[in-house]
Amino acid sequence: MNPTTPDGCTETDCWRGASTLALHAGVSRHNPYHSLTPPIVQTATYTFTDTADLIGFMEERMFMSKPLRQEYGRYGNPTVRAVEERLAALEGGDDAILVSSGMAAVTTTLLILLSNGDHLIMTGDCYHRTRTFVQRVLRRFGITCTVVPPGDLDAIAAHIGPRTRLILSETPTNPFLRCLDLAGLAEIARRHGVRTVIDSTFATPLNQRPLEFGIDLVIHSVTKYLAGHNDLMAGVIIGRNDLTVPLRESQSMFGAVVDPTTAFAIGRGLQTLGLRIERQNANGLAIARYLEDHPKVRRVWYPGLPSHPDHAIARRQMRGFGGVVSFEIEGDGEAAARFIDALRLPHIAPSLGGVDSLIEQPALMSYFDTDPEVRLSLGIRDELIRFAIGIEDTDDLIADLAQALAKV
Ligand SMILES: Cc1ncc(COP(=O)(O)O)c(C=O)c1O
Repeated sequence: MNPTTPDGCTETDCWRGASTLALHAGVSRHNPYHSLTPPIVQTATYTFTDTADLIGFMEERMFMSKPLRQEYGRYGNPTVRAVEERLAALEGGDDAILVSSGMAAVTTTLLILLSNGDHLIMTGDCYHRTRTFVQRVLRRFGITCTVVPPGDLDAIAAHIGPRTRLILSETPTNPFLRCLDLAGLAEIARRHGVRTVIDSTFATPLNQRPLEFGIDLVIHSVTKYLAGHNDLMAGVIIGRNDLTVPLRESQSMFGAVVDPTTAFAIGRGLQTLGLRIERQNANGLAIARYLEDHPKVRRVWYPGLPSHPDHAIARRQMRGFGGVVSFEIEGDGEAAARFIDALRLPHIAPSLGGVDSLIEQPALMSYFDTDPEVRLSLGIRDELIRFAIGIEDTDDLIADLAQALAKV
């Protein structure tokens, strides 16, 4: 863990570039059998050579916050641990806790940080399951919630009361890519002694590092960009040790752990994170610009466009703007469906951040069973399309959009 280099600094001190960290941080340079790749330690339990070994382990665990080994798979695994160290280094946190899905990251964090009688502030335009969990499940435990408009710092400040313990926001949000001023949020929260949690799934640590702005905890759906291949589910919680230690303890009780083979696949995905995000940022910007100029497109939401309401904030706190572009085409929901059905490259599917482009009408996907009035009040019109762009060649994606728009 963090061995020193010849000039005396630790690996993560010396390797500051995010692409380098995504490849090397937390990865042992000396693996069993001289293997370059870290082994998949596929085990549910660990053995002790004799009773003295067991007693030594138990004593070490009592006195060290991070014991050097584990006795059972739910409490830790070396393959998982190596990926956690890489994710912590990427976000600049003390520790990272890998969990079984992005929703496990959200629910574990909220259940541990909030208690009966507490008040939570969250921003709208968020992942709808997060909102449902807060409004249906947390309410049963006596935790109240105020939902304020996305990106609205004044509304957040206005709703902080004596029982407010936590502010939760995504940035950029889904599907309108609204961005919250992270430094401003951290300052307001510090003044009121309230904790802040940012779901940074849409940004990745390559494009935005919320902890650097004073945010307490960062959450990701690893399922998306971090793993990057639309082939696994995982989540992560990253932050300072004082917050991650109780979260790790609870994870071993809640049981939402990641399988070692999945952790290996996440590690493999992270190796190309820098390259993937570079291409997805470039594709996102090129496609947003193309769509904005197209006569059959009514409106485009992309934080890299000057027309986006949060462009100035995004430029201040992001290094790139990601691969999700939302837009409304001229016409109704049926026109949007005709356009989507005419596309050759993107698949119709929920999710984002993977190498394959995915496309959806939110009204027919996440919001299919939402009351149409509620849906419209959230700005989700039938003709809204969310394009989660992959790593295909930009020109091919634009040619595909052009031929499909010509059919509307
Ligand atoms: C912003 C955001 N957070 C959390 C989640 C939940 O992640 P998972 O699907 O990995 O549980 C999603 C899923 O789409 C998401 O978009």
